[in-house]
Amino acid sequence: MAEELTRRFRLPKVRFSNSGTEATLDAVRLGRAFSGKDGLVKIEGTYHGHHDAVMVSVKPNPGKMGPRARPISVAQSAGIPQAILDMTVVVPFNDPDALDSALAENPDVGTMIIEPIMLNIGVVVPKPGYLEAVREITRKHGVVLIFDEVKTGNVIAAGGVVERYGVLPDVVSLGKATGGGTPIGAVLGTEEIMAMITDHRVAQLGTFNGNPLSMAAAEACLTKVLDKAAYARLDQAGERILKSCQEVCDRFGLPAYTAGVAGKGCIMFSEQPVVDYRSYAEHFRDDLNYLAWLYHMNSGVYMTPGADEQWTLSIAHSDEELDHYAAVFEEFAREVTAA
Ligand SMILES: Cc1ncc(COP(=O)(O)O)c(C=O)c1O
Repeated sequence: MAEELTRRFRLPKVRFSNSGTEATLDAVRLGRAFSGKDGLVKIEGTYHGHHDAVMVSVKPNPGKMGPRARPISVAQSAGIPQAILDMTVVVPFNDPDALDSALAENPDVGTMIIEPIMLNIGVVVPKPGYLEAVREITRKHGVVLIFDEVKTGNVIAAGGVVERYGVLPDVVSLGKATGGGTPIGAVLGTEEIMAMITDHRVAQLGTFNGNPLSMAAAEACLTKVLDKAAYARLDQAGERILKSCQEVCDRFGLPAYTAGVAGKGCIMFSEQPVVDYRSYAEHFRDDLNYLAWLYHMNSGVYMTPGADEQWTLSIAHSDEELDHYAAVFEEFAREVTAA
């Protein structure tokens, strides 16, 4: 498993845990330890799991988030200490200049965590050059860069965003699909950063870390199921469902467009392109989105429990099933646009 993951993500060392939350927790701790700084920068509107450090400005109430140039750090839950909010700087996605200024103004920040494709508000892809700019700016400021690939890793390509966009961070967090259905988390990093663990400067712990069941399931999933042909199929299936749903949006004049990468995608119910959390909060039509979600559920297409998620295709999905999804969406469009 370690060999397969280090090959896929081009980072030499890996440690295992049991969930995506643990993977981002380990990553942030490594960043803080390696940089020697407590400050963390994160993207407004992004979810990284349920530990204190990252439960900041996940989906902040627009009335509380402050000006775009200087977003306020908002707790996602009661019980998050004020000290955590004080050491967390929030910046908008897809805006390299805002990141550069925030890091210049906050020299106490030593770590950045980013979900390189935002998947907590539908699908928001990075603008061309954005991830490259994030890499360059974090390097310039001496900031450890973490890609949270809990959702994208081993899913949108063998090596996730690292492979698909060709940008290499210092640390990658993995979870979810990596375990082939069993609980797993993993953190990958450079030799220097991961040496913090082997030198016993950073404690990376967990009773079930690297347990044989998850390791065997994950290894089988990554080496026997998710091969080159599987990723090619996911690309092709993703294109098929996006194309047929986009065609429905256009034909019925819905205030919506499709967005996706490989087997992850969704219909974005917004007339304006959503590029970050603020444009989502301003333009996204929650009412139509929820209605479409209910419509699919009531038509036997069982979606994720959260309506603001996206679909994740499996290699088990046939073209007929993808076309069925689009056909139900067409019915929805017909009914919702009927005068
Ligand atoms: C991007 C991202 N990071 C981390 C997590 C946390 O993973 P887990 O639910 O396995 O703790 C999630 C879960 O939805 C996620 O979407």
